[in-house]
Amino acid sequence: MTIKKAVIPAAGFGTRFLPASKAVPKELLPIVDKPTIQYIAEEAIDTGITQVILVTGREKGSIEDHFDISFELEHHLRSKGKSDLLKLVQDISEMVQIVSVRQKMPLGLGHAILCAKQIVGNHPFAVLLADDIVDADPPCLRQMIDVYNDLRKGIILAIKEVPRREVYQYGIIGGKKVGNRLYKVDALVEKPSVEEAPSNLAVIGRYLLPPEIFDVLESLPPGKGGEIQLTDAIARLGETYPIYGYRFDGERYDAGDKMGFFAANVRFGLKHPDLGPRIAAFIKEVAEELREAE
Ligand code: G1P
Repeated sequence: MTIKKAVIPAAGFGTRFLPASKAVPKELLPIVDKPTIQYIAEEAIDTGITQVILVTGREKGSIEDHFDISFELEHHLRSKGKSDLLKLVQDISEMVQIVSVRQKMPLGLGHAILCAKQIVGNHPFAVLLADDIVDADPPCLRQMIDVYNDLRKGIILAIKEVPRREVYQYGIIGGKKVGNRLYKVDALVEKPSVEEAPSNLAVIGRYLLPPEIFDVLESLPPGKGGEIQLTDAIARLGETYPIYGYRFDGERYDAGDKMGFFAANVRFGLKHPDLGPRIAAFIKEVAEELREAE
């Protein structure tokens, strides 16, 4: 059975993005002209996901509004004859079935996923973290589901090589290469020190998980940072379930980090059909000024 449901956790405080994220959810900050979470939802839809489950929290209602119909705005655009903008706005609300559930306490990523248990039900499902924007064709999640459909069983984690000094920011796998981009995982550690890290292959925010993960999450003690960690639940489930790491083909941006967010804006800006050429000209102008100032 292929995967049709995707969970997108979006309940965090976004502290890495203060002050911008004080009153605006970081998931709604735009990369060029689209909120980061819309890139994630589009990746899920382009992959064939039919239901997206958002896990939100207090002060995050505007994320749900973004994907809902906006009667007043649509009426306004229609009455002004702005049909292009009207279509843009309507397309967002027609994208996919979006269901949302609230995480009432910020107890960690694992706990956020557990909040989606009832809606996911007894099916394998995908998790996409809203901070990780992956520019890839086919989409990163599609690549993973293709691998899953071949293997038919197991947990699949998107992985990427990172500089060794950065391993403390990620879940890190240890394992053996078993295919072109595929690793059989035998160790998984959340945010290890450089000495403890089993490799420099980091888990990037895309996961394919079986529903048994919920039973593990329900009885899991807090881990790193006092939070219920998804990584710990996967490692535990790995005692009875095969775990694979898939080194996806594509460029990943950490949109939860100021520099990664800026880089994504430049890269996606350059590719934007209308703005791209003007952004390129502007970047060249700035580069010239910087060279002259050296
Ligand atoms: C989370 C996960 C971590 C993973 C990372 C990818 O960490 O806990 O295992 O490597 O996402 O972005 P966070 O960045 O939310 O602290």
